[in-house]
Amino acid sequence: MHRFRYQGDSLFVEEVNAASLAEQYGTPLYVYSAGTVVDHYERLLLSLRELNPLVCYAVKANSNLALLRLLASRGCGFDLVSGGELYRILRAGGDPARSTFAGVGKTAREMEEALEAGIYSFVVEGREELEAIDRVAARLGKRAPVALRVNPDVGAKTHAKVKTGVAESKFGISAEEIEALYRELPRFCHVSLRGIQIHIGSQIRDVEPFEEAVRRVIPLVEIARDRFGAEFFDIGGGLGIAYEEALQSGDPGWWENKAQWATPAHYAERLLPLLGPLGLRIVVEPGRLLVGNAGILLTRVLFRKDRPQKKFVIVDAGMNDLIRPALYGSFHQIVPVTRRGGELFEADVVGPVCESGDCFAASRRMAPAEPGDLLAIFSAGAYGFSMASQYNSRPRPAEVLVEGANHRLIRRRESYEDLVRGEAIDEGAAAPEFSGRADGANKGLTLDRVNRKEKP
Ligand code: LLP
Repeated sequence: MHRFRYQGDSLFVEEVNAASLAEQYGTPLYVYSAGTVVDHYERLLLSLRELNPLVCYAVKANSNLALLRLLASRGCGFDLVSGGELYRILRAGGDPARSTFAGVGKTAREMEEALEAGIYSFVVEGREELEAIDRVAARLGKRAPVALRVNPDVGAKTHAKVKTGVAESKFGISAEEIEALYRELPRFCHVSLRGIQIHIGSQIRDVEPFEEAVRRVIPLVEIARDRFGAEFFDIGGGLGIAYEEALQSGDPGWWENKAQWATPAHYAERLLPLLGPLGLRIVVEPGRLLVGNAGILLTRVLFRKDRPQKKFVIVDAGMNDLIRPALYGSFHQIVPVTRRGGELFEADVVGPVCESGDCFAASRRMAPAEPGDLLAIFSAGAYGFSMASQYNSRPRPAEVLVEGANHRLIRRRESYEDLVRGEAIDEGAAAPEFSGRADGANKGLTLDRVNRKEKP
C-alpha cells in the first residue's frame, strides 16, 4: 500500500506536498516514500513469517544508498549482480552475509571481491562458472558457498525481455544438467553447495507460474538438502505491481481485493504448503515489489504542441531518465500534481530526447496539462533511476526521500561537469591509475590468469 495520494487537489507524498518538492529541488525529480518501501518489505515478511525467510532485496531495481540503508537497517539482505552492487551495499552498511550474488557473467575479480566480503552465497548459472568459482576460491584458500540456479522451464505471462525461466533463456541450469552436476560436485573441492535458486522473470502477476516452478524444482532441492547438506531454497523475485491502477493501489484494502494477483498474501498462501515441509531457509529476492510503487518521477510540462493529427505534451523528463516505456512499451500512470478540473483530452506525453521512442504515454486520455504544470509519473521507483543514463548529455535527475513530514536529497542533480567527469581531450590524461580494486574495471584479471595462478 503506497503513500501517494491527493489531499484536496494536491498530490502528497506521505505528508509532503509534491509541488513543493518540485519547487525546492527542481525537475525532473525522483521522489520516494520511505514508509511505502518499509510497508512493502514488512508485508512480505509478515506473509512468509512461518518460513522465517531471508528477504534479499534486488539492488538493481533501485540502488540508491539511502534506500539500501533503509532496508539494511531493518535486517534486509540483498541480491547482487555485480561488484558495483556489492560496493554499494557495503557503503550502505548492508550485510554481505545476508546477501547473494547472481548473474550469468561474473568476472574473476567480482568473485574474489564477493568471497573476501563474506557473501552468503553465489548463485551459479552454469557449470563453466562453477569451475571458475572453484578456481578463484582455491587461489584464495577459501571454500565458496554456492547455490545452483535451476531453470525450471516455466513460462510466465510477462514481457519477453524480462522472462528468465524458459529453456531458451540464458539463465540458469536445466534439471538434467543439475543432475549431472550433482554427480560431479564432489570433484569441486573449493565450493560447498549451500542452496538452490530459481528466478522465472519479472513483473509476474499470477501466482501459478511461481507455484509451478517451485513444484518442479522441489525434487532437486530435496537432493541438494539430503545429499549435500544444502540449507536454503531461494525462490527468486518477480512479484508484479500495479501499473495501470497505481494510484488506486494506495487505497487500504486494494491489495486484499485482488484475489487473482500475486500479492504477498496470495503468494504466501499458495507457496507455504510447498515450502514449509522442506525445512529449509527460504530466500526471496524482490526488487520491484518493494520499491516500484514507492517512487514517482515529477516532471514539468514545457510545451503543448497541438497538431491536427495529434496533441503532444512535451515534458522535461526524457527516456534517459525513465526508459521503461521506450524499452518495454510499459504503462505508467501519469497524473497532475495539482488537479484543476476541466475536460480530459487525448495526447502523447513525450520527452525532449531526439528519438520518437522518447514517449511516456501514447494517445493517453489525460487531465488538462499546460506549460508550467507539474505531472507525476507513477510506479517509477523500480528500474527508473537505476536504468537512467546521460543520453543526449542530459544530467541525471535528483532523488529525494520523504519520511512522514520530512524530506531530504539522497542524490543531487548531476551537473554539466558530471557529464564529462573522467573524460580527456589529451590521450591518456583521464585513465585512472590501476588500483587493483574498487574501480570495477576488469583489467587484466582474466580467468586465464587466474587459472595459471598469476597475480595481475
Ligand atoms: N532476482 C534475479 C536473479 C533477477 O534477475 C531479478 C530481476 C530479480 C531478482 C528482481 O526481480 P523483480 O522482483 O524486481 O521483478 N528492467 C526491467 C526488469 C528487469 C528485471 C531483471 N531481473 C523492468 O524495468 O521491467
